[in-house]
Amino acid sequence: MDQKYEDFKRQVKDNSDIVEIIGSYISLQKKGRYYWACCPFHGEKTPSFSVDKERQFFYCYGCHTGGDVFSFVQKIDNCTFPEAVKTLAGRANIPIPETHRTPADIRREQKRQDMYKVNDLACRYFSACLLKTRNGEKALAYFHNRGITDEIIQRFSLGYALPGATSLQFNLQKKGSTVEQLVAAGLVRDKNGYKRDMFVNRVMIPIKDPRGRVIAFGGRVMDDSLPKYLNTGETDIFLKRETLFGLDVAIKAIRAAKEAVVVEGYMDAISLHAAGINRAVASLGTAFSEQHAKLLHRITDTIVFAYDSDDAGRRNAVRAVGIAKREGLTVKVLNVPEGKDPDEYVRHFGRDAFESLIKNAWDGTEFQIRYTISKNNVSELAGKVQCVSNIIPYLQECKTEIEAAGYIKFLAQQLVIDEGLIMGEYRKRSAARPLPKNAAPVPADWVVKQPPNALILAECKLLLLFFRFPGMIASYKDILQEIGFVSPVRQSIYKILCDMENEDFSVIQERLFADGDAEISSETARILAGEENAFTEEDKMRIAEDCIRLMHQGFLQREYEDHRRLADTYASMNDARYVEELKICNELRGKITNLYGS
Ligand code: UTP
Ligand code: MN
Repeated sequence: MDQKYEDFKRQVKDNSDIVEIIGSYISLQKKGRYYWACCPFHGEKTPSFSVDKERQFFYCYGCHTGGDVFSFVQKIDNCTFPEAVKTLAGRANIPIPETHRTPADIRREQKRQDMYKVNDLACRYFSACLLKTRNGEKALAYFHNRGITDEIIQRFSLGYALPGATSLQFNLQKKGSTVEQLVAAGLVRDKNGYKRDMFVNRVMIPIKDPRGRVIAFGGRVMDDSLPKYLNTGETDIFLKRETLFGLDVAIKAIRAAKEAVVVEGYMDAISLHAAGINRAVASLGTAFSEQHAKLLHRITDTIVFAYDSDDAGRRNAVRAVGIAKREGLTVKVLNVPEGKDPDEYVRHFGRDAFESLIKNAWDGTEFQIRYTISKNNVSELAGKVQCVSNIIPYLQECKTEIEAAGYIKFLAQQLVIDEGLIMGEYRKRSAARPLPKNAAPVPADWVVKQPPNALILAECKLLLLFFRFPGMIASYKDILQEIGFVSPVRQSIYKILCDMENEDFSVIQERLFADGDAEISSETARILAGEENAFTEEDKMRIAEDCIRLMHQGFLQREYEDHRRLADTYASMNDARYVEELKICNELRGKITNLYGS
């Protein structure tokens, strides 16, 4: 493999955090050092699929599948190793080295570039229509009426789509775009051969990625007609659940304030910026997603939800809070009074009033509790019981039991019932939860005298030691030459380790995972997953000796079995060689007793 490709692979790996990548396919829960999920590779109800963020690998204790981030993508997308590298490169925005691009890659990349290009041209065109045409005057007035200044129009690159059904395509074709490109970007739709602009006579709001590239549009009517908004459908460059409107302009303010304000609508976000609250982003009609939470978590630890105060908004907020809490964010929810949405409120009462709403925002869990209480008839016992039952999942989203205990006290006061009762219910439900409390099935006292499990564990443990301390291999080469490993895949791993005696742990791990051999990477993950604590200096010698002794015993037992069977066969055939075999059997039995007691 050429160096350039190696560097590329390394860069892709460094930019593809395994928890983030796996978390974008399945939902992971952090428990202790590891993240857990139900394994996507075999059917199960209790999670035995673990992800180790620190060491960047995954392992399923149920089906023994494992590996690094590349192995995961290979398995879940059912693709080859180079394809997995490309997928991850695409996610991380790392260009594929030219020599490794297939014609299909080049076409895909070109298509993405074209989409950025036409979106950018369209954005400029809409902007010119807003600011420089007669028809645009009423659109400009519409914005101004809603308190949106020229400065904000610029900051968000707002625009206007003319009333003509083909004005955009006509104009952009003059600038070199093709109709196919416009259709691919969702700007033109093809209806039985008739090509019409997607957005007609609407004020235009470009949606940008965090780097400020236009990836989609929302277009709003200027009256009460329906649909109120039209939005670009999903494309290769626009995934709704991974996009937050306004993040490109809000990112600095979010970092500085260590807090993001999340609203539901375009107009809410724009209005907050117009009022000087620059840390606002919108989740755009789509439900707040795990990816949204992750995106924000990279730049801040706290988010404040400012959703509409109608029931739908409040219900969305309860859900969004749960998602953000599970991501480990500190969450608050503000209550916009008088049934207003954030846009109306901030325009009416101004920035300071809104800031003080933020300051007085409820803590996320408290909001979930209060909302649930308001939805139950808690003047009756049955309603109280139902209410507690509905609230317990929210308590379980808390980071610690101490935190949950605080809310239990609060809930007890609100409902006027005994705190102990709620605590009892919470504990009962938490115990029944399908999350492994101490999920590592590898027992602390790993030398279980119960072959063949003990033998497998011994072989894994020994290889783990060799991983950590390649210098140890030399002392055991002779004996291992004789007894070997029972499993061919562990034998192969041992061989690879022997060839890499002088290498560093991370290099060895890399090499074993990078092999592209699914069996080797799964087994490597299993070996690494067996590491509970760091080995101490004396421990490592003692453990290695224990492993070798167990493996040696296993080897002798297998030999003994072979010779015993042979002796039986000879005996039944009246073949004199059976005496010889019996002698060997006796010797072997003596050795086993010597080595391991009876
Ligand atoms: P809202 O109806 O609250 O929109 O829907 P808004 O942004 O506050 O707009 P104004 O104030 O009425 O002008 C919230 C979000 O849901 C999506 C849009 O992203 C909107 O910002 N939505 C809503 C649509 O995509 N289509 C619709 O027809 C309505
Ligand atoms: Mn609104």
